[in-house]
Amino acid sequence: MALFWGKSEQAQPQVDFSNLPRHIAIIMDGNGRWAKTRGLPRTAGHAAGAENFRTIATYCKEIGLDYLTVYAFSTENWKRPAEEVSAIMGLLKKYLLEAISRMERDRVKMEFFGDLSVLTPELQALCRRTREISRHYEGCQVNICLNYGGRDELLRAAMAYARDCVEGGADPNHLSQEQFSGYLYSSGVPDPDLIIRPSGELRLSNFLLWQSAYAEFYFTDVLWPDFSKEELLRAIAAYQGRSRRFGGV
Ligand code: IPE
Ligand code: IPE
Ligand code: MG
Repeated sequence: MALFWGKSEQAQPQVDFSNLPRHIAIIMDGNGRWAKTRGLPRTAGHAAGAENFRTIATYCKEIGLDYLTVYAFSTENWKRPAEEVSAIMGLLKKYLLEAISRMERDRVKMEFFGDLSVLTPELQALCRRTREISRHYEGCQVNICLNYGGRDELLRAAMAYARDCVEGGADPNHLSQEQFSGYLYSSGVPDPDLIIRPSGELRLSNFLLWQSAYAEFYFTDVLWPDFSKEELLRAIAAYQGRSRRFGGV
């Protein structure tokens, strides 16, 4: 079933909605530059980015995507000026409070990947609450990567496995990829099929290092706050034109 989306004169992305990628991951980048081009403070870009996240997450649920994972704050983002970090944390609180209040309507299952223990107790409680309320929702699962770093995730997994070897009887000479995946934040979630990075940067920036092994990449110059539903469909259409071989022929 090939469907066209949108009404403008421009060539529209042609997406087969019956054959969507199962899991899309997005590096939500470009908020600062979006604000700068408008003469606004960077925090205004983060606010616009948060709003766009809501739009895209809701749309993903609408089109029937199974998993959406978004990179919201990295383990390296603490290097930013304290005012910017605290503005981002403030927006996160606002977003979570709103998400909780709309939850019964939106019915999006939410999870968090990352070390939340360094967030304020209030934010940690909001994350827990969001996760608990939405736990039983069916359909799209949205994973928000917060204080997330791929290397940090791998180290934590290695340490947890080492502990299981010492204390839990795990065998240090036998560990499968599936077992190791179970120690990651993404345990139980299939690897992303498509990783999208807006804003023109061509790098992973420590995102899903293990999980991205066979992901398809899609890069665009569009900045995250401007990354519309149509841009998403363009990325999906590009993905659907790829040939994934996973090392085979
Ligand atoms: C992404 O946008 C949001 C976070 C990393 C928290 P940026 O803030 O990195 O925006 P640019 O890359 O400076 O434009
Ligand atoms: C990656 O963007 C992290 C998030 C979008 C949360 P950055 O803006 O932090 O990445 P670099 O610094 O350009 O690599
Ligand atoms: Mg950036």
